[in-house]
Amino acid sequence: MGAVFASGISATAQEVNPVSPELTPKLRDLLRKEMLSVEEASKQILSALIAGDDARVADLAQQIHDSFILQQSMTPQDKQDLMSVVPKHFVTRDRAFHQLAASLAEAGRDGNRARQNEQFGQMIDACSACHALYATDRFPKLAE
Ligand code: HEC
Repeated sequence: MGAVFASGISATAQEVNPVSPELTPKLRDLLRKEMLSVEEASKQILSALIAGDDARVADLAQQIHDSFILQQSMTPQDKQDLMSVVPKHFVTRDRAFHQLAASLAEAGRDGNRARQNEQFGQMIDACSACHALYATDRFPKLAE
């Protein structure tokens, strides 16, 4: 990947480009599907949080955790294709994001509502943080 789009997108020094154009059609499709299901699950978590439905929060957050695109539906060839185009920091962010989902699931199982709110907030922060770095083609306002 070149540094063509790097200027002006982010204050960080690391190389940041939209990743989608670099992906194979199959991987792009997988990523979008995962994003849509993650967004849907996040909305449902919000509804469960405001209803005090700890078990449902745990369930949905666990689903997000388990949807890890880098581990699911991918052949070894896909994996190689992915790793050869996405920056290391993208993978790190994806892992951290799924880790937050795991912590949220745990807080749900523990019935700890203050912690559920906190982890949910952090998880949503992680969405826009990654988009601001790697999906400004899809979400141009994040680059403003
Ligand atoms: C590790 C990076 C990363 C994280 C974390 C992340 N996203 Fe995304 N997301 C992307 C990328 C990259 C795209 C652009 C995909 C494309 O345009 O092909 C995207 C696109 C999307 C889209 C648009 C999908 C489409 O069909 O156009 C939605 C909706 C979305 N993300 C929701 C979320 C939500 C909700 C979260 C958090 C709960 C989240 N994302 C977390 C990287 C991430």
